[in-house]
Amino acid sequence: MKVAVVGGGVIGSAIAYYLQKDGAEVVLLERGEIGGEASSAAAGMLIAPIEDTGNDSFDALREASLVLYPDVIREIQERSGVDVEYKMPGMIRTAHTEELAEELREACHRPGFEWVEGRALQDLEPGLATNVIGAAYCAADADLNPGALTRAFAGAAAALGADVRKYTIVTGFETTGGRITEVSTDVGDVKCDAVVLAAGAWTEVIGMRLDAGIATPPMRGQMISLRSDVPLHAVWGEDGYLVPKPGGLVFAGATVENAGFDKTTTADAIDGLRRMAVGLVPALRDAEMVSAWAGLRPGSADGLPVIGALPGRENAYVATGHFRNGVLLAPITGDLVADLVLTGQRDERLRAFGVERFG
Ligand code: GLY
Repeated sequence: MKVAVVGGGVIGSAIAYYLQKDGAEVVLLERGEIGGEASSAAAGMLIAPIEDTGNDSFDALREASLVLYPDVIREIQERSGVDVEYKMPGMIRTAHTEELAEELREACHRPGFEWVEGRALQDLEPGLATNVIGAAYCAADADLNPGALTRAFAGAAAALGADVRKYTIVTGFETTGGRITEVSTDVGDVKCDAVVLAAGAWTEVIGMRLDAGIATPPMRGQMISLRSDVPLHAVWGEDGYLVPKPGGLVFAGATVENAGFDKTTTADAIDGLRRMAVGLVPALRDAEMVSAWAGLRPGSADGLPVIGALPGRENAYVATGHFRNGVLLAPITGDLVADLVLTGQRDERLRAFGVERFG
């Protein structure tokens, strides 16, 4: 089966990899560089789900993806030769209020988490602000380079025979009845047996050509990097997070804004991120800011991913709307979408994320 995957971000690249591995003949179409948009703007944390999101299906999907990570990283690094800089700095989820401290203490019954406070917390993360009451600590929490992860998925797909086409803009679709037979691009047409739309925040616009009617509002996230050797762990506070990165850098993020397709950074947001960083780790007050950037996460009408078959089309699928969880959810999305396309059977775990929920 020949499958055209539209979008070379982390979701499209993961889908391309799993499809090709499972026997499809994949053409991955990306209008720019692989992982050139939101996927490389992300911090790259694989957030252990300490706090329930309030949606069991979503929490289960996040946990299922986390489990896939170590093996799939090994596979795609070997196949692509790309180092995704996977490491486990551990994560500290801080509480500044008694109310949150109580909630996190309770949540620490989960395997892999422990509640840390007082002297033990200062020993664990010596730079942490002294007004932090305590923290949920997960030693196994992982971090990676999300741009490299995306290139590794696409590179591994290519190593298995996928046709990865960068700088290729999708301009339309040829259809016969309810079937898509061809994807038109600015550099030629691609015949296909199935199409997967996975173009992040751009899925809505591309989907219009198929009357898909799927909202994927771009949700801007601004981030800064500071030169510092603290903190030692990823630190999540109430207003943002800090992630230690290779080369003596710390990423501080991130805003969540609906600013259309505007990727510029703003002085207000940068000030806010600095204040947040200093509130968690006071030594960052004098840290040099090295860079600031923004990415456009794909939102959705209800804030949850949109993954499934496109109603009214026999051979079209969509995988978008991953919002703040694209990196974490890439392996499970790739795995389950590949199954869906190749077998026509939807895994139960995708039921809550189907397009049909929007009516
Ligand atoms: N995944 C982290 C963020 O969206 O800021």
